[in-house]
Amino acid sequence: MLPESFIQELKFRNDIEDVVSSYVNLKRGGKTLAGLCPFHSEKSPSFHVYPNTQSFYCFGCGAGGDVITFVRRMENLEYMEALRFLAQRSGLDMPDEVESDGSARLKTRILEINREAARIFHQNLSSPAGREGLNYLRSRGLSDQTIRRFGLGYSLSGSGLYKLLSAKGYTDDELIAAAVAAKSNRGTGCFDIFQGRVMFPILDLRGNVIAFGGRLTAAAGQQGWDKRKYLNTSDTPVFKKSRNLFALNFAKNSGEKGKGLILAEGYMDVIALHQAGFDNAVATLGTALTPEQSRQIAHYTKLVRLCYDSDGPGQAATARAIDLLSKAGVQVKVIQIPNAKDPDEYIKKFGPQRFKLLLEGSVNSIEYTISAIRQKYDLESDDGKMNCLNELAAMLTAIPNEISRDVYISRIAADFDTSKEALASQVNYLRKRKRRESEKKAMLDPFAVNPSGGGQKSINTMQRQNNIKYARAEDGILAALVLNPDYFKWVSRKIRPEDFVTDCGRSIAQAVYGRLEQNLSADISFLGESLDPEAISLLVRLQNDFSEQSIPREDVETYISTLLQRRTEKSQKELSEMSMEEYAQYLANITKGKAGKPLP
Ligand code: UTP
Ligand code: MN
Repeated sequence: MLPESFIQELKFRNDIEDVVSSYVNLKRGGKTLAGLCPFHSEKSPSFHVYPNTQSFYCFGCGAGGDVITFVRRMENLEYMEALRFLAQRSGLDMPDEVESDGSARLKTRILEINREAARIFHQNLSSPAGREGLNYLRSRGLSDQTIRRFGLGYSLSGSGLYKLLSAKGYTDDELIAAAVAAKSNRGTGCFDIFQGRVMFPILDLRGNVIAFGGRLTAAAGQQGWDKRKYLNTSDTPVFKKSRNLFALNFAKNSGEKGKGLILAEGYMDVIALHQAGFDNAVATLGTALTPEQSRQIAHYTKLVRLCYDSDGPGQAATARAIDLLSKAGVQVKVIQIPNAKDPDEYIKKFGPQRFKLLLEGSVNSIEYTISAIRQKYDLESDDGKMNCLNELAAMLTAIPNEISRDVYISRIAADFDTSKEALASQVNYLRKRKRRESEKKAMLDPFAVNPSGGGQKSINTMQRQNNIKYARAEDGILAALVLNPDYFKWVSRKIRPEDFVTDCGRSIAQAVYGRLEQNLSADISFLGESLDPEAISLLVRLQNDFSEQSIPREDVETYISTLLQRRTEKSQKELSEMSMEEYAQYLANITKGKAGKPLP
């Protein structure tokens, strides 16, 4: 568990108004701010931000919470991921990255090893043994300045790096943990992982060398122990390839300046782009784009131009990246490269000016997808045409904006020489079907935020409506406990979480009691880990509803007796279901002054 002081600091540095403002256009009205809810579609604002309690609540769809809940919902993150997201946003280190002394020390050692290794690889370029590497990089058109800027290098064959680093006092275990060396099969010491490769150091945003990519050069390829074209550092305590991007350390500022980022496939593409003046290019590290990387990108820019290889795999990767980045809220454009296999080759053949034209002519992701779908079909045949139109109609349903959907419907109908009305009605039919399906899903998943707002009611909402008297009493007790924790002592003697009637109330009571019993704060920021978003929403609404008034003890007493009254009602019902013998025994116990059968 993370220390409370950390979560407090995190919330202090991530003011809810700031964070929400980067997603929602908020207008101030009195003590609160309001805007259009980002969690359901609406035309008038029912989404409210309360700076004094650092919370939000939507009266349209019931979503609510603190800043942590907000980014969880907005970015679709787990609790810990949301903390990491906010920590990164405000320049805080996550405490789990400080960790125990042992693993913190190992991380420091690995970063030192990587820095040393990068320095040695780079120096090799100017030694006779490393000449091959320098020649290779130059043959790829890289200037000495680019080689220095990216800290490129060369790894020699044998186990020279291992020996040098051992001599500097790094242990075998440390060198293996850094993934620069591996135990040799014969059990006699270690050998270098990277041999005969030009080396690309991967830096994090603080300038630490966290990993390497290495490309085999032609001559080394003849004798290399590993013949794969590229070899990348496997995941280590300081590196997770699904979470990092090559050259983001250089590109992040240009991304922020509104230029957007260019996402390419390979190291060489990125370096060639930077050398040609496109210093906003990044690449993934030998894997397809991951959801984590998409969210990281969304953090730096709202526009990405995809510039993947022009071959089949490159185009498949483009489709995947469009999907992931759009989900992360990034606008995507696609650069298609004619007459070359990748941006590196294109720039070499035609120069930076021509590439700039491609960049400017990049189509939006919808246009790209349309032409990619068209290419799959034989449009000369009627069958091909029909199947293609059906696939296009399905794709069009995903365009949320009505106007742009209409534009593409018109354009495609004209291209296919078919009636616009027919295509439009097909698209509408598919949209309705999709909505019905997602409503069905929402009903099965009571905690899902309802995307259309209103409409479908969750199980908790239904429970509350059927037990409105008790739900109100529960609300009052919970609000009292959160706002006046000093009530807890006597409240907890009178009523237990099990006595709460609705599932939602019961789970909140359990979480709140659990914290207060240990003398811990029951502020919503600490309950987020154990409660689901719907429970958090309810709690926030209570907090804001009641925050202006203090809740008098007498009121809480009334709420408690209301709930306890239900307990008696329930037990009376059960009494009526007792057999005569049981009932007689029950009465006998009561008259003897015993507590009787424990109430159910
Ligand atoms: P490419 O094969 O397109 O390489 O792989 P490239 O970057 O254009 O390299 P050159 O121009 O041939 O030198 C694209 C990326 O996929 C990863 C690397 O990150 C590479 O940059 N890759 C490729 C691997 O991780 N392993 C491989 O064996 C091949
Ligand atoms: Mn290439």
